[in-house]
Amino acid sequence: MQIDFSPPDISEDDIQAVSEVLRSGWITSGPRVQEFEAALAEWTKTPRVAVLNSATAALQCVLELLAIGPGDEVITPAYTYTASASVICHVGASPVLVDVAPGQYQMDTESILAAITPRTKAVIAVDIGGVMCDYNALRKTLSSPQAFRRFAPRVGTMQEIFQQIPIIADAAHSFGSSYLGQPSGTVADFTVFSFHAVKNLTTAEGGAITWRNNLVDEATSAEIYQRIKLYCLHGQTKDALAKSADGAWEYDVVAPLYKCNMTDIAAALGLSQLKRYAQMLERRRQLISLYTEQLQTDAAQGGYSLDILSHDDGHGSVSNGHLMMVRLLGRDDAFRRRFIVKMAEKGVSCNVHFKPLPLLSAYAALGFDISSFPEAFKQYENQVSLPLHTLLSDQDVQYVCDSFKAAYAETSAG
Ligand SMILES: Cc1ncc(COP(=O)(O)O)c(C=O)c1O
Repeated sequence: MQIDFSPPDISEDDIQAVSEVLRSGWITSGPRVQEFEAALAEWTKTPRVAVLNSATAALQCVLELLAIGPGDEVITPAYTYTASASVICHVGASPVLVDVAPGQYQMDTESILAAITPRTKAVIAVDIGGVMCDYNALRKTLSSPQAFRRFAPRVGTMQEIFQQIPIIADAAHSFGSSYLGQPSGTVADFTVFSFHAVKNLTTAEGGAITWRNNLVDEATSAEIYQRIKLYCLHGQTKDALAKSADGAWEYDVVAPLYKCNMTDIAAALGLSQLKRYAQMLERRRQLISLYTEQLQTDAAQGGYSLDILSHDDGHGSVSNGHLMMVRLLGRDDAFRRRFIVKMAEKGVSCNVHFKPLPLLSAYAALGFDISSFPEAFKQYENQVSLPLHTLLSDQDVQYVCDSFKAAYAETSAG
């Protein structure tokens, strides 16, 4: 038996949708991209969505929209994927890493407060595993007098729209999640999604940006959209589709910008996936409850403890079930590594989300030391992510759980 970690769920309809674009004579950004943006806006209940070729490009784009650059600081968790922090370096600003709250995957609000300086221009919060951060608590922290007094928006830039330090959601994992009943995409000031191959909904590679409904008036919202489009396509005033109209060859380049547009091929895949996304989310919920029940029963019988990431807080915060994250409580890194090898020997592919940034050479070289992030290390040292995707059958989940129980016993036996 071989259970892969997260293969893409590609249906015959998806293949058909992509084939149609390939045959249509238009494969780069065009009508499918526009349709996909409209469909995403409907899904996320936001007036506008702009798509790009990755969440990484989208995060960088938001930082540039906010005119964040050299001399500025952006706060993000130590416990995340590199993209949340690397984009801060890309724009020439300094990442300020913050520890997670004890026993949690999101930043500790007191530590955020302590990290704010007059150079802090944004906070990038990360919705790990699909579970949205506590944005009300974060907003409250940023509106406290201590944080509020320190926010100095740069004059003549979009930072001036904000009364307090803007919140950017790295929602790479949380498309389709909600926070207290509000969809991901409407909660933070800016939200960035990923449609990478391992995400719940994929365009192979892809990303999107939304911004909060009441953040700006209609004219400013239209301007934000326009600026994202310029950012994605060299700062060129006309995209390939507009230029292809008879006699419409001429264009201007208003700034030497980037090339990170989404193609119609990718958008067609996204549109097709979106049609069955509600079903996919439902199936993920079923798989998670099967897993949770069985893992807990086995742990009780085997006399060990697990911390299983909860995807539903019972108060309207429901995750999209992106990752099946488990911690082997009381166990250390060495045990977890041996356990993952045992799972692999049984044909079950596991993963770790995430190795805290200070443990990676790039961030160690920037001066970050894991000893300053003890809670992130505690979350990491015994964390294991189990296979979770919509190609899994109930029997597959049972097999993973049986393997888990056996691997745990074998690892304990030494
Ligand atoms: C938390 C987080 N942020 C950002 C990204 C970057 O997404 P993309 O690959 O679409 O650039 C990822 C990718 O897995 C991620 O896990």
